[in-house]
Amino acid sequence: MRFDSVEYEVIDNTALVTLDEPEKLNALSPGIRSGFITALQQAEDDPNVRVIVITGAGDKSFCAGADISGFEFNTTFVKSFIDKVLDVLAMPEQVTKPVIAAVNGYAFGGGFEISIASDFIIASEKAKFGVPEIKLGLLPGFAIVRLAELVGRQMAKYLSMLGEPISAQEAKELGLVLKVVPHDQLLKQAFDLADKLSSKPQMAIRYAKSVYNRELGGADITYAKDVMPFLFLDDDAQEGVNAFREKRPPRFK
Ligand code: COA
Repeated sequence: MRFDSVEYEVIDNTALVTLDEPEKLNALSPGIRSGFITALQQAEDDPNVRVIVITGAGDKSFCAGADISGFEFNTTFVKSFIDKVLDVLAMPEQVTKPVIAAVNGYAFGGGFEISIASDFIIASEKAKFGVPEIKLGLLPGFAIVRLAELVGRQMAKYLSMLGEPISAQEAKELGLVLKVVPHDQLLKQAFDLADKLSSKPQMAIRYAKSVYNRELGGADITYAKDVMPFLFLDDDAQEGVNAFREKRPPRFK
């Protein structure tokens, strides 16, 4: 089954959700965003589905983040864009069933954020993680409210202020990634974990997710939605985004 730019398949008790615009490194285009929400909702509503696995099409990228080609710099666009993107990024936290991110390549920006919103990350040894928004004059709206809890305040600041990528192994050492596996074993290993989760009592699994996630998805996301638009309207953000589009280094003020 296909929902916009997202492939959806149920195998035994696991829904496989594949972001599928590899020519744009599965960046969060309107088609990926709407397909992702529909696919996760479908999995949530299907009583046969117990676990959700998210991955990216192609060999290179899980998801390269927000679709920079679609950015516009006016308040109406920016506010609506941020509201919609943050709802997409928070979706793996919001569904009641366990979500595994099978990270097959770049998990940058929004792709990084989808992976940390998931309950487990299994990473290919080729995967790379990072929040490079600072290079565009921006910040990762979801990661800035989540990352400190996951990796500590210092490392959260380092990752978001420097924007440099880290390897799958480094992400594992930080506790972000559960397991690093050979690239050709990625989906098999993600499905092995999914099958183990499926064999457990489902009410207990859902309660566990609900209890661990009980503080998430409220005022913190509203805060990010309210604050982030100001950054997009800064001159340096326009320069950073234009520089990316023109494939040149930015000249920040
Ligand atoms: N939005 C829109 N298009 C994107 C994209 C994004 N976030 N990331 C990559 N693409 C597009 C590129 O523009 C390019 O398109 P083109 O072939 O029409 O020129 C295509 O995907 C391939 O990307 P390319 O940069 O050529 O691949 P690479 O292997 O040299 O570099 C990255 C990969 C991920 C390092 C680089 O694409 C990148 O830095 N992307 C932006 C990541 C980012 O800042 N995300 C946060 C956004 S807020």
